[in-house]
Amino acid sequence: MTSSTNPNSIPLHPTIFVIFGITGDLAARKLIPALLHLYSKKMLPQRFSIIGFSRRPMARDEFREYIRERLNVRPGQFKEEDIKHFFDHMSYEQGLFDDPRAYARLADKLNDIDSRWGQCSNKLFHLSVPPTLYEGILERLAQSRLTAPCADDTGWTRVLIEKPFGNDTATAHRLDRVLGTLFKEEQIFRIDHYLAKESLQNILAFRFTNSMFEPLWNRDSIEKVHIRLFEKKGMEGRGAFYDPVGALRDVGQNHMLMMLALVSMDKPKNFKADTIRKERAKVLSKLLKIPLRTMEKFVVRGQYEGYTSEPGVSATSSTETYFRVQASINSPRWKGVPFYLESGKGMVESKTAIDVYFKTNKGSTHQNILTFRIQPDEGIKIRFFVKTPGQGFEVEPKPLKFSYSETMPTLGSTTDYERLIFDVFRGDQTLFASTEEIMSSWKFITPILENLNKLPIKKYERGAQEVE
Ligand code: BG6
Repeated sequence: MTSSTNPNSIPLHPTIFVIFGITGDLAARKLIPALLHLYSKKMLPQRFSIIGFSRRPMARDEFREYIRERLNVRPGQFKEEDIKHFFDHMSYEQGLFDDPRAYARLADKLNDIDSRWGQCSNKLFHLSVPPTLYEGILERLAQSRLTAPCADDTGWTRVLIEKPFGNDTATAHRLDRVLGTLFKEEQIFRIDHYLAKESLQNILAFRFTNSMFEPLWNRDSIEKVHIRLFEKKGMEGRGAFYDPVGALRDVGQNHMLMMLALVSMDKPKNFKADTIRKERAKVLSKLLKIPLRTMEKFVVRGQYEGYTSEPGVSATSSTETYFRVQASINSPRWKGVPFYLESGKGMVESKTAIDVYFKTNKGSTHQNILTFRIQPDEGIKIRFFVKTPGQGFEVEPKPLKFSYSETMPTLGSTTDYERLIFDVFRGDQTLFASTEEIMSSWKFITPILENLNKLPIKKYERGAQEVE
């Protein structure tokens, strides 16, 4: 499969990367390590600068120390010298997100860098802040003309935002309108980091390059599809963020539906970003709304025991830490095939997988199951049946297996964020969610959210295998 631009081309044009909310968890855990990786592989432009913007007052050295201490890298993973040189490209700008003067200072800083480099550089703005702040930041960025490219032919301006994109259909629309008035679609990169997982990208490669599967990939041969995203961990200090959000918004509206889209979409005419995103959006737009009268049958919500005692969580919280939703796609290919979306925190193990159950022959119980193992132990497995050696004609299930770790040990060498940031540099939007996809996801999820509190909350023990 090919992408719209050469995947190996290294972005060379000087670039300034502004991170709003650099003192937050995401920057130290994912963003900075990803940039450091790219830097150590010489995949960043020679001239690049990272400007962290946050509320907390900090001197330059203090800022570097702060990031250094929180940096999520293994001891010895990078040469100390590389880390030091990388940190030389970082600086800090303190300011309140709603203070126009802070944006004016930031603009001066960007201009200074451009003058020093003698070039109009690319500008990338990353919003690593709570979504309630998006609108204000975007508007102030535009007002201070920070988002206007400094030249016509060189120096793009792009904005990178994290999910959740809105809270429901109405707020997502609103955010979209704001984005639409300030930026062109090709400037906006909406992160759903699941799309950057190699094992997820492989779903399309697997489905559409192995011609044996496509004729079976429909309601005639497939009985049901089960998508699971189970996590062993609970809140781990994220209670205050999670409690107003809940599992459906946290992973249902985005990661889970993206997995559904990849496993169910039609074959795109080509593998260009736009075409792939359109096909993903098309199938998501065909998800059938679950009516109130069948809500209890098709939706289950749960909460693990002890959740309400987690720091940051309300003692009377009814937020779901688990859900199971039975979705249906209204298309000739999928009519009548249930797609189960199931996710929980505090489950027995961390495991993300998609099981595709094939129909059995009449009277037979021998069911073939194709599993896309997303993580951990990434790979693909097919359960098929062989004759048990010896007399008689008994059969037993056996796996036909492909495992990345056994055959492609380079899998872990590129992180989700590394891939995403590099693609923003290249202007490739394949691995980013489009506005159509987001709107269709909310159209399906919002009616469920609106009625969720009418459903009983099933309490489950930490370490549960399933929630009944
Ligand atoms: C994030 C959610 O988007 O995805 C987290 O906010 C969740 O709650 C995480 O734990 C799962 O991502 P991964 O890559 O660890 O499977």
